[in-house]
Amino acid sequence: MQEILDAILSGDATSADYAALALPESYRAVTLHKDEEQMFAGLASRDKDPRKSLHLDDVPLPELGPGEALVAVMASSVNYNTVWSSIFEPVSTFGFLERYGRLSPLTNRHDLPYHVLGSDLAGVVLRTGAGVNAWKPGDEVVAHCLSVELESPDGHNDTMMDPEQRIWGFETNFGGLAQIALVKTNQLLPKPKHLTWEEAASPGLVNSTAYRQLVSRNGAGMKQGDNVLIWGASGGLGSYATQYALAGGATPICVVSSPQKAEICRAMGAEAIIDRSAEGYRFWKDENNQDPREWKRFGSKIREFTGGEDVDIVFEHPGRETFGASVYVTRKGGTIVTCASTSGYMHQYDNRYLWMSLKRIVGSHFANYREAFEANRLVAKGKIHPTLSKVYALEETGQAALDVHHNKHQGKVGVLCLAPQEGLGVRNHELREQHLTKINAFRDI
Ligand SMILES: NC(=O)c1ccc[n+]([C@@H]2O[C@H](COP(=O)([O-])OP(=O)(O)OC[C@H]3O[C@@H](n4cnc5c(N)ncnc54)[C@H](OP(=O)(O)O)[C@@H]3O)[C@@H](O)[C@H]2O)c1
Repeated sequence: MQEILDAILSGDATSADYAALALPESYRAVTLHKDEEQMFAGLASRDKDPRKSLHLDDVPLPELGPGEALVAVMASSVNYNTVWSSIFEPVSTFGFLERYGRLSPLTNRHDLPYHVLGSDLAGVVLRTGAGVNAWKPGDEVVAHCLSVELESPDGHNDTMMDPEQRIWGFETNFGGLAQIALVKTNQLLPKPKHLTWEEAASPGLVNSTAYRQLVSRNGAGMKQGDNVLIWGASGGLGSYATQYALAGGATPICVVSSPQKAEICRAMGAEAIIDRSAEGYRFWKDENNQDPREWKRFGSKIREFTGGEDVDIVFEHPGRETFGASVYVTRKGGTIVTCASTSGYMHQYDNRYLWMSLKRIVGSHFANYREAFEANRLVAKGKIHPTLSKVYALEETGQAALDVHHNKHQGKVGVLCLAPQEGLGVRNHELREQHLTKINAFRDI
C-alpha cells in the first residue's frame, strides 16, 4: 500500500508505473458486520450509535471483473446513507447485498458477511478490467455512485430507470470508505483539478442528486426567476441546491435551524433565509394531526422575502415533518420535488391544495450517468463548489457519521482514506486561487 501511496504522492508516476505496482492482498475498510444487524434492536433511532456498528477492518481485495476498476482511494465522504446503513434503518443493507449476489456469479462477490460502505471517492485508478478503454492506471478520478447493469431497455433512455439500479457502497459492496474501492468504470469521472482529494470526494452523491432533483428536466426543471424553497439549505443536499438556484438565476428561500447555518447560506450568496428553530414552527399538533395555521404562518414568512409570491419549487427531503407544509406553500401549478424522508416516510398532506391548485409532486433519486457527469463538470469548471466543513481520519468514520446523524455538521463531512493529510492533490492552482473563498465557505464556521 505504501508503494501505491508513494506513486500518488510523487505526482509524476506514469500509467506504466501504476500498472507495474503489485496490488496488496488486503486493504483497510470501514465495514458493517452482518452478525451485528440486530445490535440496536429496541433503541430509538437517535440512540443508535454509528461508532458502535462501524468497524475498521482488513478485508481481502475483491477480484476485478470486466468493465470494472480498482481505485486507490485518497479521500471519501460521509453521506446520510452511511448513517442509514450504520443504524440498520429503515432496513439492514445486507438484504441488498444478498439480492445483488443472486443476480450473477460476478455480483455474487458482493454478498459477504461484511459490508464496505461509502458512496463517494477521489483517487487514482490502479487496474481496469476487460473491455475498458476510456480509463487506465494512473488516471485521477472521482466516482459517482450509480451502479446499473443496463441489460434491460427500461434503463436505456435514463440510466436511473434500470431495474437493477443500485447505489454503490450502500446497495453494493466495496464502497469508498476504504483504501481501495471497486467500481464499474462507467461510474468514473475526471477529478476536478483545482480541488484537494478531500474536496473532490465530497460533492459526488449530493451534488448529482441536487442536480437531477432541481435542475434536470427529470426533476423540477428549475428556470430563471423561480422561487425555490430549500429545506436544510446548509446541509449536504441543500448546500448544492442553494448553489444551483443562485447559479441558475432563481431565488433560493433557505430554511435552516440556527444562526450559524443562516450565516453559511449568506456566505453562499442567499438572502432569503428562514431559521425554523427561531420561528418555532410546529407543523404537527400531535402524532397524527397537522396544524394548517402553522403552514399558513410559514407561507406568510416566505412571502415576506418574495414580495408576496409563493414558491415555484419546494426542494423536499425532510419528509413527514415538513411535507404537509411543503404542499401548502407551493404556488398554483408549482412542483414539490422529493428525494427522501429523513423524518419519516409516511407523508400526510391535504390533497385539496394539490389538485385544486394543479401542483405536482415529483419523485427523484440520485442521478443518471449524464446528470452525474454534468454535475461534476460544473464543479470542475468552478461554477459549483464543494461544501466541505470538516475532515476526519478513516478510523474516525464512526464519529463523522454520528455528527451527521445528530445534525451537528454543516455541508459535507470528508474522510481521509490513503491521503496522509489534508490539502493534497491540487493540480490547477490558478483555478483554485480564483475560487478559494467559495471553496472554503463552509470551513471554520
Ligand atoms: N434519493 C437520493 O438520491 C438521496 C441522495 C442524497 C440524500 N438523500 C437523503 O436526503 C436526506 C438528506 O440528506 P443530506 O445529505 O442533505 O443530509 P444532511 O446533510 O443531514 O442535511 C439535511 C438537512 O435537513 C434539515 N432537516 C433535517 N431534519 C429536518 C426536519 N425534521 N425538518 C426540517 N428540516 C430538517 C437539516 O437542516 P436544518 O437543521 O438546518 O434545518 C439538515 O441539515 C437524507 O435522508 C438522505 O438519505 C437521498
